[in-house]
Amino acid sequence: MVQLSQALAAVLLASSAVAHPGGNINHEIIRRQLHLDHPERRAVSNCKRELTESGWVREQAVRRHAKLQELRAAAGFSHLEARDPATMESEFSEAAACTLDPESTEGPYWVSGELIRSDVLTGEKGAITHLDINVIDVSNCKPVTDAYVELWGANATGVYTGVAAKGNGDGSKSAIATNALRGLQPSGPNGTAQFITVIPGHYVGRTNHLHTIIHHGAKLLPNNTISGGTISHVGQFYIEQNFLGQVEATSPYNTNKQAQTKNANDMLFSMAKQGGDDPVMKITLIGSKIEDGLYATIDVGVNPKAKQRPEAVNVWTEKGGVPIANSPWAGYPDTCKYCGGRPPTKRDAEAEAEAEMEMLE
Ligand SMILES: *[C@@H]1O[C@H](CO)[C@@H](O)[C@H](O)[C@H]1NC(C)=O
Ligand SMILES: *[C@@H]1O[C@H](CO)[C@@H](O)[C@H](O)[C@H]1NC(C)=O
Ligand SMILES: *[C@@H]1O[C@H](CO)[C@@H](O)[C@H](O)[C@H]1NC(C)=O
Repeated sequence: MVQLSQALAAVLLASSAVAHPGGNINHEIIRRQLHLDHPERRAVSNCKRELTESGWVREQAVRRHAKLQELRAAAGFSHLEARDPATMESEFSEAAACTLDPESTEGPYWVSGELIRSDVLTGEKGAITHLDINVIDVSNCKPVTDAYVELWGANATGVYTGVAAKGNGDGSKSAIATNALRGLQPSGPNGTAQFITVIPGHYVGRTNHLHTIIHHGAKLLPNNTISGGTISHVGQFYIEQNFLGQVEATSPYNTNKQAQTKNANDMLFSMAKQGGDDPVMKITLIGSKIEDGLYATIDVGVNPKAKQRPEAVNVWTEKGGVPIANSPWAGYPDTCKYCGGRPPTKRDAEAEAEAEMEMLE
């Protein structure tokens, strides 16, 4: 039986009080812990030497710098001084690098069938963010060139599109009709997926985060969606707390009435920071203030052979979001099968029983 530490038991005990609206994140914490304890776990930092020697780290640092210059020029700001490539190499994997794993839940509001598109704004307002995600296969230390990276997040006032649910921010009935802030991008020759989105707003029980899913072997359909394939990873990206505070002070974030949870009080955030991972995006101002736009980067490690089975609550169609019959998230947070978060696998269930025993001791 998996031996869980007293520290983990304490985390679980503390987190039963702090949950998703109507939910409970203990299952998710256990999944993350099991991933951290897995003997074959590899982090992005395990690939630092190989990716540096192949020249990829330097190329990507130069490419990202050029992209930021381009954004600055387009916004009417002067050029940045080029950074020393050796410094960029030495910093690789120390910040904004994480290994996505089965630990992080898709949450109750994943909508499948979204469109392949880079700009996912669809009229949403907020801190416009040009996000650059590099995907690395941590099993062979090569960029993943043939994946689809899916991204979604809540809008600036903490509401997810594509769903109508009581627990979804203001409980909006109209959000189901839009696919704003959701989309997919192919990873391409350098393993890079680029999006234009906004810094997600906060909602009850969680700190601000973006969701991601990595698809492999999916087929591109004529209507710019994908079908089939496998999903190796389900993860979340975060924002540094001081900077987040500045974003939250801008409009329209400052009109969000939902209670706010800071990174430090979000158990999933704290656990995502463990094991040499840093799921906090590296964010640079394009101009002189947040309203001029942001450039964000993150490197994510995946094992393309891993198979996760996240469950969508709705599917995006020409007619808007359509509920998936029998989705275990349907009815969240009141009547769903997954109301307490995704149930752990059989192996996780053993660990959970163990943790509960330790808590009773
Ligand atoms: C891949 O990276 C190289 C080196 O930075 C760059 O020249 C090339 O344009 C990139 N390709 C894509 C599709 O981004
Ligand atoms: C977020 O979405 C909800 C539901 O569609 C909407 O009422 C709200 O105005 C949106 N927030 C912003 C900042 O546009
Ligand atoms: C795209 O095509 C698939 C297959 O025909 C269909 O099931 C899906 O609803 C379509 N999606 C959209 C957004 O039109």
